[in-house]
Amino acid sequence: MSIISKDISKAVALLNAEEVVAIPTETVYGLAGNIFSEKAIKSIFETKKRPFFNPLIVHIHSVEELSIYVSHLPKKAKLLAEAFWPGPLTLVLKKKAIIPDLISAGKDTVAIRIPNHPTALELLKQLDFPLAAPSANPFGNISPTTARHVERYFKDTIKMVLDGGPCERGIESTIIGFDHDEPIIYRLGSTSVEAIEGIVGSISIQNKKEIAPDAPGMLERHYAPTTKTILVNNVSEAIEKHHGKRIGVLAFHSEVKHPAVTFQIILSKEKNMEIAASRLYDAMHQLDSQVLDLIIAQRFPNAGLGKSINDRLQRATVAN
Ligand code: TXA
Ligand code: MG
Repeated sequence: MSIISKDISKAVALLNAEEVVAIPTETVYGLAGNIFSEKAIKSIFETKKRPFFNPLIVHIHSVEELSIYVSHLPKKAKLLAEAFWPGPLTLVLKKKAIIPDLISAGKDTVAIRIPNHPTALELLKQLDFPLAAPSANPFGNISPTTARHVERYFKDTIKMVLDGGPCERGIESTIIGFDHDEPIIYRLGSTSVEAIEGIVGSISIQNKKEIAPDAPGMLERHYAPTTKTILVNNVSEAIEKHHGKRIGVLAFHSEVKHPAVTFQIILSKEKNMEIAASRLYDAMHQLDSQVLDLIIAQRFPNAGLGKSINDRLQRATVAN
């Protein structure tokens, strides 16, 4: 029997019983549990095979709840929360002692966001605790953007995927931390740098593998298909270099015509980066399930969501 269900009350019952439930958000599906249940949180880490040093994002449903969990709210954090919540932005803030160490991996900060998805918000309203939810994929694998993706990963290990349809945004939230109250981007994501700068002015980006101890989800190789994947500017040129291979192509807007290409996905014929982002992970899942020797992904223009898409493609690929 399928573990996929639309029944919110069933999800509520399981979460109240300290179980782990996969939930929809506007970015990607999350593997959710009660932040105050050691059993549930340990089970999230075990299910994902995620190292315990990698902290989790806490999902709440209203800004008013912030003061329960956070000891200090920089002015620019407040502006960002007002501008983007509910939405794909996570704020890393000084935590109060009520946040269990397992959630924050022993740090003095906690990552928090209000997801913009009706099912997730309704679920959070019906619970009397926030939900910790990392993306619902085994550590290092491609994040899930449909209930089916989650089912494929975890049908034998979790009891339920709450189905909220395909994720509208398709890339994880942008993560912002603070240094002396000044914002820093820790992870590029579904809220573009330009949109953030429109609220707080110019912002520095530390979206690098060197910050692995701070945001270990940013390990260099992440979001990775099992098929060898390369990221290039010119797809046709790359095809020529890989004669005799079965090649899959992940293109932004135009089709590549070449006999070596046995499978191809065009992310947005209309050159729309929002649409391309929303389809990115599903395309990677599809390409990875074909019999291919090589996936060639095309680099995006480095602006707007193109930066976040390139970041994910970069982490999905090996040195080329
Ligand atoms: O869109 C999203 O953010 C999705 C959905 C489910 O909300 N969640 C998600 O979670 O992407 P996860 O666990 O896959 O990525 C969370 C990232 C990790 O890289 C983690 O290291 C970082 O957030 N993080 C969590 N708490 C942190 C903290 N206190 N300081 C710095 N980084 C933190
Ligand atoms: Mg993740």
